[in-house]
Amino acid sequence: MAILDIVTYPEEILLKPTKPIEKFDERLKKLAQDMIETMNAAPGVGLAANQVNVGLQIGVISLAEDRKTNSENKEYLTFANPKIIEGTNEVMSREGCLSLPNFCEEVPRFEKITVEFLDTNNKIQRMKLQGLPAIAFQHELDHLNGITLLNRISKLKVRLYKKELMKKG
Ligand code: NI
Repeated sequence: MAILDIVTYPEEILLKPTKPIEKFDERLKKLAQDMIETMNAAPGVGLAANQVNVGLQIGVISLAEDRKTNSENKEYLTFANPKIIEGTNEVMSREGCLSLPNFCEEVPRFEKITVEFLDTNNKIQRMKLQGLPAIAFQHELDHLNGITLLNRISKLKVRLYKKELMKKG
């Protein structure tokens, strides 16, 4: 296992969608292991492949219930080609990002999601996630689509701004 370098904004690989994978071969399984080690060393609760300069749809998240228990956590989820099938209950989530040093903002997320992805045994899995793992999954899925918190925040600000204008209107 190895700790990989994390790329930071505005590196171009963070700003464009990654490509789906055909299957987890030995090389990609090792990449996923290295991503888990890199995430833990940071420390963080999730990491997307383009954050370590690989333009493929692979992500890892911690399955710890909250940030407090994350340091003792030994359970992780590795996923490729992820999709959200269903999301319920929008909440505001205060998030940082390993690729955006010293940035922390609230963004809207689903509290509960049903997801589909390719697992490391090359099987399509469907799974329900909630709480921190659900938030982390959505954050990493954004990365894999070339979206960072900055995209989320600017949209929100635009929306709030329009609302404010309408009130004044
Ligand atoms: Ni991030």
